[in-house]
Amino acid sequence: MDNRIKLLKQKQAEALLGGGKARIESQHKKGKLTARERIHFLMDEGSFQEIGMLVAHRSVDFGMEKEKYPGDGVVTGYGTINGRLVYVFSQDFTVFGGSLSETHAEKICKIMELAMKNGAPVVGLNDSGGARIQEGVVSLGGYADIFYRNTMASGVIPQISAIMGPCAGGAVYSPAITDFILMVENTSYMFVTGPNVVKTVTHEVVTSEELGGATTHATKSGVTHFACANEISAIQHVKQLLSYMPQNCEDTAPALPYETQNEIRPELNTIMPENNSQPYDIREVINHVIDADSFLEVHKDFAENIVVGFARLAGRSIGIVANQPAFLAGVLDIHSSTKGARFVRFCDSFNIPLLVFEDVPGFLPGTDQEWNAIITNGAKLLYAFCEATVPRITVITRKAYGGAYDVMNSKHIGADMNFAWPTAEIAVMGAKGAAEIIFKREINAAEDKEAKWREMEQLYSDTFANPYRAAERGFVDEVILPEVTRLKLIHAFKMLENKVVNNPRKKHGNIPL
Ligand code: HXC
Repeated sequence: MDNRIKLLKQKQAEALLGGGKARIESQHKKGKLTARERIHFLMDEGSFQEIGMLVAHRSVDFGMEKEKYPGDGVVTGYGTINGRLVYVFSQDFTVFGGSLSETHAEKICKIMELAMKNGAPVVGLNDSGGARIQEGVVSLGGYADIFYRNTMASGVIPQISAIMGPCAGGAVYSPAITDFILMVENTSYMFVTGPNVVKTVTHEVVTSEELGGATTHATKSGVTHFACANEISAIQHVKQLLSYMPQNCEDTAPALPYETQNEIRPELNTIMPENNSQPYDIREVINHVIDADSFLEVHKDFAENIVVGFARLAGRSIGIVANQPAFLAGVLDIHSSTKGARFVRFCDSFNIPLLVFEDVPGFLPGTDQEWNAIITNGAKLLYAFCEATVPRITVITRKAYGGAYDVMNSKHIGADMNFAWPTAEIAVMGAKGAAEIIFKREINAAEDKEAKWREMEQLYSDTFANPYRAAERGFVDEVILPEVTRLKLIHAFKMLENKVVNNPRKKHGNIPL
């Protein structure tokens, strides 16, 4: 018995060392944590239970049968984060560069299947040189097995990918299918083809960081939802993200205890600038409406003309989508539409109610937008709102113009409640442009054309640039003082708490891609 216990302990100790002390040191020198250290910081203390610690690869080519490391380059298992069950895999760069072998893939698939059967999120901590080069096609097959499970799990359980090192080639497509990606500045990168291939094919000279670092993907491509200063910050972001989410699509998000307080927020009455073309930061509105310090902004530095993120209102999780007048006047364009659509679909998949703040002058004009398919991309946001069955409320703070009025969670496409501030302007277009078109003859005939134009602009503005025409029709349920916005929203979301809507049965819809 003693010998057997000794043997087990020896094997366990070997597994805990991954690729060995020298490689662990090298990992630390790069400013990176090891796979196990990351799990230690992620999971509740003592909760992690490892699965497959002694799994070894089956490869025999290139002398591989002599080089085996228990665990085969990935630590997998389950545990709790803030007391809730979560499955995790953490790639170990010290073992063959965290590369993905057949067995490495099997370990990941195993916990994904357990997560789906038991209805709990999966967090992937990625740090890998890609397909295990010595294994060839079985490694590619392993990736495909993961992609398939990522897709099957999409909308069933939340999936989060934290990129802690390299993630290149086809390997990027697993994180890309998951719900949220986090990257670490300067030590992680993602690209389909690296700088050397880029140089050969396009003659562009670019560093890994420029091509696919955290800042690049957080600002230019929108591939990552968060760019974190270091690994600990990334891990904290993962925990915070999970705190807003339910465990699976049949569950509701956890609510924090909340005691009613004075919900009137007079600060909201003074945010709106006198001049309706002056910008203001919609985050100020958001922060005065939601529970203190509860906003977790997603995609903060990408398509800044729309702001999306999670928050709590009277303790309950909500998803916020808001036009941002402080950036490009809050106009809808390709990137802001796809950013908004993806967020709406996540919230709807996981029963998180949606709150929309609307101040949108319309869609961005121009050849760049038209040639790059603002039609198709704008339709994504429209489609996402149309099919969402969670409680949905809109607050029109100022402009709700043109097609964007319809798109931004209007009552016509299924919003449950629509509030407007007295500053709301709900019309087909801005008064100046409208006057120029419909009063063209009067303006041209006038002696003082400028004065006539201003007069007609005023007429149009008095008629439509207000919330009352829409309120008369019931397209706006209530025109409210800004200071009561929070109070009204708390009541309305409570009223909608048991909402049930079943869209027509179908295999799946065909969102314009
Ligand atoms: C096997 C690998 C490996 C791989 C790295 N290693 N990548 N072993 N398969 N894919 C091993 C190295 O031999 C080395 O072993 C150790 O991991 C650390 O690698 P280094 O090169 O020393 O580290 P570093 O300088 O930090 O560079 C990291 C790296 C580089 C940039 C990731 O290793 C690299 O370019 N690797 C190859 C990347 C790649 O081409 N992968 C295949 C992509 S195609 P020792 O013994 O010295 O510690 C792909 C297709 C997926 O992934 C398709 C899915 C559909």
